[in-house]
Amino acid sequence: MITVYLNRRVGDDERRESLFEGNFYLYTDVNGADALADHAKDLIGQAFEGLDPERAQYEMDVDEFIKRVEPLKREFTNGQRTKELCQQFATDLGVDPERTYFDIPRLRVIPADQFLTAGVSYNYKAHRDMWYGHPQQLVNYWTPVFPVVGDNVMSMFTDYFDKPVKNASNQYDYDEWVSKHRSAAAANTTSDTRPHPVPLEEFESRGEIRIAGDSGDIFMFSSNHLHASAPNTSGVTRFSYDLRTINLDDVRADKGPRNVDSGATGTTLGDFLRVSDLAPLQPEEFRAEVAATV
Ligand SMILES: [Fe+2]
Repeated sequence: MITVYLNRRVGDDERRESLFEGNFYLYTDVNGADALADHAKDLIGQAFEGLDPERAQYEMDVDEFIKRVEPLKREFTNGQRTKELCQQFATDLGVDPERTYFDIPRLRVIPADQFLTAGVSYNYKAHRDMWYGHPQQLVNYWTPVFPVVGDNVMSMFTDYFDKPVKNASNQYDYDEWVSKHRSAAAANTTSDTRPHPVPLEEFESRGEIRIAGDSGDIFMFSSNHLHASAPNTSGVTRFSYDLRTINLDDVRADKGPRNVDSGATGTTLGDFLRVSDLAPLQPEEFRAEVAATV
């Protein structure tokens, strides 16, 4: 059984335990999340200059769309203002700022009607974030920039939280992805030739759910959930951002949900920044401990 908790004010330690069992947490009216959504809106507005960004895809060709979205995504992910707002976001949710680290957030831009489903607007096939080299202890926060509907969000295949799916993650190495493939996103305009860790079998989910919030609402879940971009049939481009955190104590104690099917190598942990002061997580802070637990 999976429970969805709304605006539940519990300690972060207790909440992570619950997330690792597969439960979901939804939060509304969190200042940091609203501020990050507003920041994204500002950048999106600049990128589409006077056009309605949710419908701008109908005013331009794919090349022009990519030309605007690629720098938009880069600025959102790497900008200093974004990092500061992530600190506020995480602190407002009650995480321990000294023990919690976040991965710089991603802005997702998913046009409607198959306008662009590759590269900068890659429509994620079903996956767990662990298939991409993330640690089992990862917590994901998914937030719409503009209000979303079931036809343009993510599908969560809740019945697969603890059930394996045959997949290509054992071909995936995070370091190789960074050095060879990540920067090639904008070059993928019709199909995505990058070696994404995709499912290698058809699976049928009887537990698919879609959660659609308003601007700034937070959908919090364990990244061990199998999830995918839903085909966008809403008629508007979906803009959302996602943030991920880990608690260092969870990593050191090897907590988190059971790894049911990920064979990915490498780790994203070296990308994570401490909530309190943006200090990068040093490899020796987690590698030695991980080795000691093997
Ligand atoms: Fe994901």
